[in-house]
Amino acid sequence: MNSSCSGLSRVLLAVAIALVSACSPCPQAWGPPGVQYGQPGRPVMLCCPGVSAGTPVYWFRDKEPTLLQGPDSGLGHELVLAQADFTDEGTYLCHTPDGQLGGTVTLKLGSPPERPVVSCQASDYENISCTWSPSQVSGLPTHYVASYRKKLPGTGDQRVTLSTGQPCPQDLLRAARCVIYWAEFWSQYRINVTEVNPLGASSRVLDVSLQHILRPDPPEGLRVESVPGYPRRLHASWTYPSSWPQQPHFLLKFRLQYRPSQHPAWSTVEPIGLEEVITDAVAGLPHAVRVSARDFLDAGTWSAWSVEVWGTPSTGSLTNEIPDAGKLHTQLADSTGPPRPSLQPDPWPLDHRDPLEQMVVLVSLGIFSFLGLAAGALALGFWLRLRWGGKDAHQKPGFLASMIPVDKLPGTPDL
Ligand SMILES: *[C@@H]1O[C@H](CO)[C@@H](O)[C@H](O)[C@H]1NC(C)=O
Ligand SMILES: *[C@@H]1O[C@H](CO)[C@@H](O)[C@H](O)[C@H]1NC(C)=O
Repeated sequence: MNSSCSGLSRVLLAVAIALVSACSPCPQAWGPPGVQYGQPGRPVMLCCPGVSAGTPVYWFRDKEPTLLQGPDSGLGHELVLAQADFTDEGTYLCHTPDGQLGGTVTLKLGSPPERPVVSCQASDYENISCTWSPSQVSGLPTHYVASYRKKLPGTGDQRVTLSTGQPCPQDLLRAARCVIYWAEFWSQYRINVTEVNPLGASSRVLDVSLQHILRPDPPEGLRVESVPGYPRRLHASWTYPSSWPQQPHFLLKFRLQYRPSQHPAWSTVEPIGLEEVITDAVAGLPHAVRVSARDFLDAGTWSAWSVEVWGTPSTGSLTNEIPDAGKLHTQLADSTGPPRPSLQPDPWPLDHRDPLEQMVVLVSLGIFSFLGLAAGALALGFWLRLRWGGKDAHQKPGFLASMIPVDKLPGTPDL
């Protein structure tokens, strides 16, 4: 009994909803319920919610007795404002002559969307980040739809065939930004950002490619150290920006600038690797040093400069320094702190090789010596086998056993 009753009420509810939606043709895709939108200076038609088109209604302004438009206007259930202005904004009431149906409508004026300002950046070699902002504030609820397509290579501008567009995922935390992840380095992408508000939509389309917009973040961890015994030398070192994952095909090159305090002009060098020894510093003067980075094959542009770090060449001659020649005087990140002794044991060797390169050399030496040892062991094995091979069947396990310890020989490097 109970369940059949609730079943019936559900059917009635469904019918009621169907009826209501059939007789409320007012568009309601936007913003809070009951708000309709228009443009100043343009005609505006307000729709009476809950009343089907063609049904005559009375229209009033909220809290005002004056009739704005009556059932005999011939305009059905819509209130027509020939030329809306901001004094027309506000709430309106409408109802059928019998007072059975009707509702309230709030009018809000604003402008249609304008093409947004869009720009795209890439601080690594895989992800394109596009940001946008309105070129004009519409005063209306607005959202943006961002999508992109990859342009197929080898087609002229007119014949550009695009693969199907896909949404550019928008940042949940930072509004007005979307990222094309894992973009192809050599491909062109067409980005479409559409501003949408209740009065329409307007799109900005931008063609970008990673190789043109690539701009790494500045290098990090810049250190400037004096070189004991060399009053005209400064040693600078830095690291890759952390936003640039290192891969053999995507290396960075660097540019270093330095100037003594009170000299306006920078000297520029292009270091090889992640360090540089400045050999023409002015003895006794603090020097500002900064670095920037760019894709190794000159794609995109140079990064911004890193923060400036100050360092002063070592005073005093090497003989004075001999008692603590094992120490390097290090100045970290800022000029304000006093020089701090470094933990590095040796005075700086003038070795320009990249640590990565040195590692590669070490590893290959390791591999070669391992291979050499293995070949030697094998030869020895064969020799032993030739020598004793014919004697006994039970010599074989012995031969194998002599092979096994080969990779545990004390001289074999750990790989
Ligand atoms: C591109 O973005 C993805 C997702 O955040 C990240 O895993 C990847 O490392 C980025 N690629 C590069 C080269 O930084
Ligand atoms: C841009 O995107 C909007 C919304 O998805 C779409 O209506 C419009 O046609 C697109 N424009 C171009 C030039 O692709």
